[in-house]
Amino acid sequence: MASKSKFQAIRGTRDLFPPETVLWNRVEAAAREVFGTFGFGEIRPPVIEPTELFARAVGAESDIVGKEMYTFRDADESLTSLRPEATASVCRAYIEHGMQQLPQPVKLYYIGPMFRRERPQKGRYRQFYQIGAEVLGGTDAPAIDAEVIEMVMSFFERVGLTGVELGINSIGHNAPECRQGYVAKLRGELEKVKDKLGEDSRRRIETNPLRVLDSKLEHEQALIAGLPKIADHLCPDCAKHYAEVKRQLQLRGVLYHENWRLVRGLDYYMRTTFEITAQGLGSQNAVCGGGRYDGLVEILGGPPTKGIGFAIGEDRLILSLQEAGKGSAAAGRDVYIAWMGEHAYATAARAAKDLRHAGFSVELPPAELKFGKSLERADKLGSRYALILGDNEVSEGSWTLKTLADGKQQKLTEPELLNFLKSERAAG
Ligand code: HAM
Repeated sequence: MASKSKFQAIRGTRDLFPPETVLWNRVEAAAREVFGTFGFGEIRPPVIEPTELFARAVGAESDIVGKEMYTFRDADESLTSLRPEATASVCRAYIEHGMQQLPQPVKLYYIGPMFRRERPQKGRYRQFYQIGAEVLGGTDAPAIDAEVIEMVMSFFERVGLTGVELGINSIGHNAPECRQGYVAKLRGELEKVKDKLGEDSRRRIETNPLRVLDSKLEHEQALIAGLPKIADHLCPDCAKHYAEVKRQLQLRGVLYHENWRLVRGLDYYMRTTFEITAQGLGSQNAVCGGGRYDGLVEILGGPPTKGIGFAIGEDRLILSLQEAGKGSAAAGRDVYIAWMGEHAYATAARAAKDLRHAGFSVELPPAELKFGKSLERADKLGSRYALILGDNEVSEGSWTLKTLADGKQQKLTEPELLNFLKSERAAG
């Protein structure tokens, strides 16, 4: 007989609930605010898209598309996937809604869940959240790259993220005189040391030699350090673009280091790539990844368009803030109404409504409690004040407010109560 087993969240997924969600909301509010000051507006694409969209944008050979997508046949038999990322969706939306008709560039941000069937570990989930932004339009001015990076860094500063390090690189463009030439050279060098490489890297010599540079395998590190560097093989235009991005970052006071091994795992990138790491995350320490993807919109059937963007791993951002002691305290209550008697209850319900209307958080117990029990609950909920309402208080029109921190009590009329709470709130 089947036993009644308890349900659990599916591996790699988890519930987020208070007090942690207080921090999630604070972080998201800060993103909206900071991105708003840079002229970004919000887009909310669906979480399901045609599988082909990701195959074409992110690359059929990439780990994300090749191994990690949740794909199913929809009612009309079409192959559909849960989105593993949202850059492809934003480009699809840009084309679908003719956004090239809008003043350019179009600046959009998104906040929401992404899905990848990866091996779960600290900071790595199968449903995770990204806060991302994309700039799409007619120009690839290096000032845009620099401003986008400046925006993420301002946001991290605003939320108090510590140990933030920005790495940048340029991977050139897909042409024989630029990245293709470099990749051919890299492949040649990798062939020479093939026997010393791990299985993944050996496979990648054929499929995507650039990804070998991403390897974290200990014994490959010395070999990789000796490989040719892309900076020495950029075409003059890409080299100029990269130099200008660096200059633009400097004039904005954004600190960075160059990381020639930063190639990223999605196929659509060209020229600028960047990654940001933070403290307290162990091996999954990238809190943000991004880069330029000129031509992606065209690949997806749209007009020639330049693009750049990033996505922050919100789960990791929250984790890093928590590890640094910047988590959230349990949300308390401003006022707990300790009422006694049917007559008092009607007044308590009305008082709760007025106080909530004025923006105070109020706990109104649904059933009458003994006075001692009521104060005990008020305390457990982290209430600042207990409003004591018995039949006497109600008939006299003089209410008792107890400050729970020091036990002080005062008698107030209803208007006095509201004024007192408002002035305390204003005083912080
Ligand atoms: P990505 O590097 O694949 O880029 O992901 C960006 C960030 O999402 C990572 O740095 C990490 O913080 C977070 N992340 C990725 N996978 C997981 C996971 N399994 N669990 C927790 N966090 C994760 C992109 O997705 C690109 N669309 C970014 C972009 C936007 N490039 C241009 N525009």
